[in-house]
Amino acid sequence: MTAAPASEVSPPSQHFEVRPFNAPVGAEVVGLDISKPINTEDFTRLHKAHLDHHVLVFRNQQITPQEHIDFSRRFGPLEIHVLHQFQLKNHPEILIVSNIKENGEPIGLGDAGVYWHSDISYKPKPSLGSLLHAQELPSEGGDTLFADQHLAWESLSSELQQRILPLKAEHSYLAKYEELRAKNPWRPKLSQAQIDQVAPAVQPVVRTHPETGRKALFVSEHFTTRIVGLPQEESDALLAELFAHSVKPEFVYRHQWAPHDLVFWDNRSLMHLAAGTPDHLRRRLNRTTIVGDTPF
Ligand code: SIN
Repeated sequence: MTAAPASEVSPPSQHFEVRPFNAPVGAEVVGLDISKPINTEDFTRLHKAHLDHHVLVFRNQQITPQEHIDFSRRFGPLEIHVLHQFQLKNHPEILIVSNIKENGEPIGLGDAGVYWHSDISYKPKPSLGSLLHAQELPSEGGDTLFADQHLAWESLSSELQQRILPLKAEHSYLAKYEELRAKNPWRPKLSQAQIDQVAPAVQPVVRTHPETGRKALFVSEHFTTRIVGLPQEESDALLAELFAHSVKPEFVYRHQWAPHDLVFWDNRSLMHLAAGTPDHLRRRLNRTTIVGDTPF
């Protein structure tokens, strides 16, 4: 028997474990170094764990930005964020999420995630998932919360489910932009080219996960502006009810960051929120965002 060519030899298994959290969503992946080659069998297990638990936490991943990008790309093409001002130098696929200012200038998007949202829901193809990698962490605060939108949908009354199932809603990147800019004047004024990149998108209020077939609520206080076809007052009242329901504590996992954590969540199943960092403490993370499918 002749040996297989080196290029066909599969890397060895990393024999990792998936340990679910004592929380509605989330699991820790123990024993996987994402900077090392991941063979097809391990990748398939990882993919399944992501679909099952919606948030995967990989502790102590001492990876370069390129390794972060390469791992993210195994799940799909990467989004380039409209705020190009906060791209990592030479790595446009990475958005810097940070409250740090250097020479008076912000190095990243300091208020990313201050409202509950699912990444990029304002584009016709919202994100499949995002990967946030800790670079510098505050001694207190800075947690990220994840709310399971399948549980949110499944726990609605059947009357409300029937009412909202056929509805569509508009999502807009600009919905809260000026409000945020008034609070945080370092937020860049958008150019016309940037505004053109984020024309509002219409999405189903309830989406079906394209891989698991499970339904999920898909509206957010950050980006959803109105229910299409409803009078404004009725739309506002329904959205307020759905926003309040969708983030009830029983759907939420709260992530407390540790050095070099990499957290990979599914934007088709979850919304997330940055709980906030005291102004005098420094926080910096790198984010990649995987492009997803048209919601249905
Ligand atoms: C985000 O919304 O992607 C940022 C979340 C965080 O900074 O915790």
